[in-house]
Amino acid sequence: MNPETKFTEELKRKAAYAAVKHVKDGFVVGLGSGSTAAYAIEALGERTKHENLRLLAVPTSYQAFLLAVKWGIAVTTLDEHPVIDVTIDGADQIDPKLNLIKGMGAALAREKIVASVSKQNVIIADESKKVAVLGENNHPVPVEVLPFAIAAVKRKIEAFGGRAFLREGKGKLGPVITDNGNAVIDVVFGVIRNAAELEKKLKMIPGVVETGLFIGLANTAYIGTPSKVEKL
Ligand code: 5RP
Repeated sequence: MNPETKFTEELKRKAAYAAVKHVKDGFVVGLGSGSTAAYAIEALGERTKHENLRLLAVPTSYQAFLLAVKWGIAVTTLDEHPVIDVTIDGADQIDPKLNLIKGMGAALAREKIVASVSKQNVIIADESKKVAVLGENNHPVPVEVLPFAIAAVKRKIEAFGGRAFLREGKGKLGPVITDNGNAVIDVVFGVIRNAAELEKKLKMIPGVVETGLFIGLANTAYIGTPSKVEKL
């Protein structure tokens, strides 16, 4: 690991370890996906072992499920536990109101469903994820799409000003296929002035399963910085 990556990983880890204090014995916990959420799952695994916590976790991806198994955290389903006490998840961009862009790990649909039924949503990230306005630096908004509708959805999104790119896999030829069997289109809008409105417009397109705009869902964020963990 190069020194810069190692440094960023440390910031993510610090944020994750600070966030898991929201979890209490007996909680149903939503497990986010991504490299930062992975540290939270590790931290919960350690707490489970050392404090004999009785947790039940709802993983938001196959990645999160495998990590829960690895760290000895019991898993459950939304069918059995449709209300979650707290979810801890990462983000790709975080604005000052805690609106988010998520989904660079292609787990956005399950992440949003889990967030929507969580009493508390705690976001963890290193400081590079903080932005003044979502979409800054031409960061794309991931959109999960039914494979049947890829071309149709791309045309509709481009008609209202987004530049849409079908996400390609790494380590496998062809498009990324989500845990739900769908594709992901990454859409560059530039700076997004009204994310709630854009979210509604995207969701109205037939074939769109979910978008990576998480508006009004997060309650708290822990941001790892070199000197401290900032709580927002
Ligand atoms: C996955 C996500 C992740 O939480 C997001 O991409 C952040 O990932 P990382 O912590 O690896 O930067 O939304 O769908």
